[in-house]
Amino acid sequence: MTTRTLPPAAYDKVTATVGRDTGEQRTATLWTHAAALVRHAHDHGLAPTDDRPAGPDGLLKSLESLADCHPSLAPLADPAVLPLWEQPLNATAWAAIEEFWDRHPALEDEHRVDGYALGDTYQLLSEEARKGRALCQTPPWVARLLLRLSLEPAMEEWGPANVRMIDPACGTGHIAVAAFHMTRVPPVRGRRPAPVGHGPQAVERALAAVTGVDLDAYAVALTAYRLLASSASVLGVSLDRVPASWPVNVTAADSLLDRTEPLLAAGTYHACVANPPYITPKDPVVRDQVRAAYPQVAAGKYSLALPFTALMLEHLAVPDGFVAQLTANSFMKREFGRRYVTEFLPRFDARWIIDTSGAYIPGHGTPTCILVHRARPPVGDTVTVVRGNRGEPHIPEDPAQGLVWRAIEEAVDSRLAWDRFQAGADLARRDGGDTA
Ligand SMILES: C[S@@+](CC[C@H](N)C(=O)[O-])C[C@H]1O[C@@H](n2cnc3c(N)ncnc32)[C@H](O)[C@@H]1O
Repeated sequence: MTTRTLPPAAYDKVTATVGRDTGEQRTATLWTHAAALVRHAHDHGLAPTDDRPAGPDGLLKSLESLADCHPSLAPLADPAVLPLWEQPLNATAWAAIEEFWDRHPALEDEHRVDGYALGDTYQLLSEEARKGRALCQTPPWVARLLLRLSLEPAMEEWGPANVRMIDPACGTGHIAVAAFHMTRVPPVRGRRPAPVGHGPQAVERALAAVTGVDLDAYAVALTAYRLLASSASVLGVSLDRVPASWPVNVTAADSLLDRTEPLLAAGTYHACVANPPYITPKDPVVRDQVRAAYPQVAAGKYSLALPFTALMLEHLAVPDGFVAQLTANSFMKREFGRRYVTEFLPRFDARWIIDTSGAYIPGHGTPTCILVHRARPPVGDTVTVVRGNRGEPHIPEDPAQGLVWRAIEEAVDSRLAWDRFQAGADLARRDGGDTA
């Protein structure tokens, strides 16, 4: 499933037009995107009233009424997150926003209401988030593979009702929303009955299992909205009918440096899953703070992806917890990765190394790999490696069906099937031995 979008220049054009009124790009982006979010809520019967906004004032009122639906949506009416109340919009800019979304392809197809397109369009509209914080959506098929190698075995080991996962660089929530659905309807293995997944209990449990943290407060508000929109649509209700007591565990914070945020408490998560930023911090103060907090990995012109690995493996994961990431492979080739490769990673139990550099992952111009570890010293002598031979011969129309990506998924499927077969055979042998 891919979001249908307009050419990138169309997003730049609308924010430039709105920016001529607001005088500031970030606010122009937020006005434009907030209009899409409110449309989404109305189009899918999630808004508490039928009154669609007829102008900028109406949009502000709609945001206030969405913010009242659930405590986790309060940031939608917080001027510190959305400084729209301080920067009113003129009629021309509002008309440009309306015209833009009128000709934009539908924000969801009819079966989806979990806001993938809202995430993708925020990335397209916000140059500041793309360039400043390395916001780059993790496509759903990549999120699914990461979760199959981490959250899924964690659910098998600790039980779906107990498991907790975090994406500490959650962006607009692609991984978090996929994790919500995976915990709501855990995969069926063997002859177990299929779980129901659409009752209130399953939805509340899935919300409780998922956590997201990001520096970008609006992206975090979007993640909260998407988790609630998914919950409400599964239950067939509007957002205000999702009980206020149900947890939506998302917050805006610096995951690398904040040690007071409860959602970043040590030893909490059975699965840590991320597509961390690969950039080097631009601000020299932050660069030094991160270097001081992560001396074991932050050497030279380090990429932020390395401290994120340390954060997940050494701080956030429970003992034995799973850590999966789609990350840049630059650490394999550059000097800053030397200590990480020779001293840091060997301390942990590597499970999978998958070369995704030949796959076409939209937006990810940097060559990537998938790393999956467990937060414990190495166990056994097997690490499963999926090596790349060639890249895509041409850009695939549907990147999820690209030849390289399909080959990776098939390699993973056959290895997982073999592992399950082995585990079953071991069990049968042991049970046979017990009764003999
Ligand atoms: C590659 S994007 C992740 C995208 C996300 N998986 C999604 O699909 O929306 C990297 C994210 O890391 C966030 N980020 C960068 N530095 C951070 C930090 N120190 N703490 C928390 N988040 C951070 C950025 O704001 C950005 O949203």
